Parts: sequence; C-alpha cells; structure tokens
Amino acid sequence: MANTITPLIAGNWKMNGLVKPGLAQIEALTKLTARKRGIKADILLCVPFTMLPAACDQLKRNRIAVGGQDCHASPSGAHTGDISAEMLADIGCKYVICGHSERRADHHETDKAVRRKAEAAHRAGLTAIICVGETLEQREVGEAEKVVGAQLTGSLPRSSSSADTVIAYEPVWAIGTGMTPTVDDVAAMHDYIRARLRRRLHQEGAKVRILYGGSVKPDNAADLLAVSNVNGALVGGASLKATDFFGIIEAAS
Ligand code: PGA
Repeated sequence: MANTITPLIAGNWKMNGLVKPGLAQIEALTKLTARKRGIKADILLCVPFTMLPAACDQLKRNRIAVGGQDCHASPSGAHTGDISAEMLADIGCKYVICGHSERRADHHETDKAVRRKAEAAHRAGLTAIICVGETLEQREVGEAEKVVGAQLTGSLPRSSSSADTVIAYEPVWAIGTGMTPTVDDVAAMHDYIRARLRRRLHQEGAKVRILYGGSVKPDNAADLLAVSNVNGALVGGASLKATDFFGIIEAAS
C-alpha cells in the first residue's frame, strides 16, 4: 500500500520572501515543472502570509498547490495578528502546516494546541501537515520514538484521514543544520510512525503520507525519498531557490 502513495514535495519558506522576488522564484519553478514530463509528485509551496494571495493567484490553474505555515484554531474572532484556516481556504490555499518545531519552540505550542489547529484545518477543508520530531538530546538518550509517539498521540485529530492529513517527521537537530539522520534511522522512525498511524486510524493510517524534513537538498533527496514509508519531503532552505527545489521534485519522480 505504502508504495502506491503519491509523494508530496512541500516547500516551507518560513519567514523568507518578499512578494516581487518571491513570485519570480515561483514563476521559475512553474516553468521548470511545465517543461518536465513524468513528474510523479504532488507539489506544494507554503509561503509567508504576505505572499499567499499573490501566490494563490499566480498558481490558480497550476499543479503546484499553496499552503499556509500556521492557522488559528478558531474560525474568526478577537485574536489580533492571527489567521484562521477558513481565511486560508478563502484565498485558495489547500494545505496548512500545523505544529512546526519552530512554532512549538517560539510560540510554546503544545500537542493539544497543534491538534486544535489541525481540527480547524479539517473544518475548513484544508489538509493539515502535522509536524513531529525529537531534539538531539532526546535522540541521544534513546527517547526519539517515545517523544514522536507522544506528539502523534497528542497532535493528531481522531477523525484524521489520508485525504486531510499529512505527517512530517522533522528531527529538530536536522532542521537548517545540514545534518541528516542515516537512512536506517529515517527508515526506523518512518516505520514506527506508520505502525502508530495504522493502530490509530486503521486502513486510513496505511495511506497517510509521512514526509521527511530536515536539511533535504537536491543531492540527498533521492536517497531519503527511496526509504520505505517516506512519502515525500518538507523542505525549508532548499525550497527558496526554484532550481534547488526542482532538483528535489525530480528526485521524487
Ligand atoms: P530545512 O528546514 O530544509 O531548512 O532543514 C525544514 C523545515 O523546517 O521544514
């Protein structure tokens, strides 16, 4: 079953990208993907809020989907500075990242808060990309699976399905550092996540996409994407440049 899952290559621009140069990168990526036959992956760009309307507009009839990097749990209300899942859906977004480790750290997002955001995404018709991952200290003391297991239990809505949920396993120590786990370690964690998803979501758990994230680059993407139960990648730094991101998309095809 897992082998028949269409991979998802998702770019996470984080707090990077002004509108004009950002749209030029999107335009370049559009041209590269249009020229290439046989791309098998679904493609997604999660750009900053300020770029979302223009990106959605530019990619309206394109195979590249657009997503937000966060949403509030409520549909509307007195939450200055926040954006709801409904607002993202309203402008044409299809996905939203929930509980990225940078938000868990910078904004003290708990598993419960992440689960409520994912529920909000589902309510609005968006696919939630729920992020999990251990710190280096946790890995070194042998607690990586325990930590990721607890994050999954706490962050994943009970009603999740493969149509509305993607899991991103991102070891915190691999994000933006150039370090990656060995393919054996990636395989072990993705197998573990798959087993937990099956237990929790039964048949649907076998189909939910599990992305690997953390220092994915064009030159290591093919090895990482070939690992069993790796159904795509969440890409930070290397998604900012169209040619690099396209190299990863090609590696998935
Ligand atoms: P990176 O970031 O590819 O720059 O390591 C990945 C992420 O945080 O999603």
